[in-house]
Amino acid sequence: MPTLRLDRMATSKIAPSLLAADFRCLERQIARVETGADWLHIDVMDGHFVPNISFGIPVVAGIRPMTELYFDCHLMTTNPTAFLPELAKAGADLVTMHIEAMPDPTEAARKARENGLDFGLVCNPATPFAAVIPFMELSDVILVMSVEPGFGGQSFMPEVLGKVEEAREWVEKHGLATDIQIDGGITLDTAPRAVAAGANVLVAGTAIFGADDPSTAVAEMRRAMEANE
Ligand code: DX5
Ligand code: ZN
Repeated sequence: MPTLRLDRMATSKIAPSLLAADFRCLERQIARVETGADWLHIDVMDGHFVPNISFGIPVVAGIRPMTELYFDCHLMTTNPTAFLPELAKAGADLVTMHIEAMPDPTEAARKARENGLDFGLVCNPATPFAAVIPFMELSDVILVMSVEPGFGGQSFMPEVLGKVEEAREWVEKHGLATDIQIDGGITLDTAPRAVAAGANVLVAGTAIFGADDPSTAVAEMRRAMEANE
């Protein structure tokens, strides 16, 4: 696995989180963010790793023909490697898995690659950045949770910003192109702080799909992001 993957660049990205979309019409909801967004963040939950159930492979497959957005699948599941071939076939581009769900993600990363998927690791708010350091060269993305995983609409936890800074410093120091993603409570108020700390991929559910006009919300988020780079 090359350390620096030349097909990737850690540019600024906005990833609306589908969990906050109006499920009565996903096609229309996705169309509202298609132009301004970069990734579509898809929260897969199993009711075991987190105390909630969301959606899974059939939904990923169902929405795949609706958009060319990069599908960023955040697996909040106890056994995140279980359905990698199915997820890949359904149209996932990236899978991120919680380090809390597996002490050694080496095999998980290998399986993801084998299925043509990009791979990332997620840290819950209480998990230190040190937990993922041994696996940085396996990871395209490090996702720092800024809420406890499982539910949208929670308040941003500013105490994770130090972890974002640490991750950004590590990536720069080692010359990696790893994306530093942040997820949970991202709004026009908290986005600038996350970007200033070093996040380059912002996940936002409520702030985008909960807005009167999701496409304007994406554009505003982009402005807030760029003003703080
Ligand atoms: C929480 C999910 C988030 C969630 C974010 O477990 O991982 O992606 O959708 O929602 P907001 O932006 O509303 O905090
Ligand atoms: Zn998420």
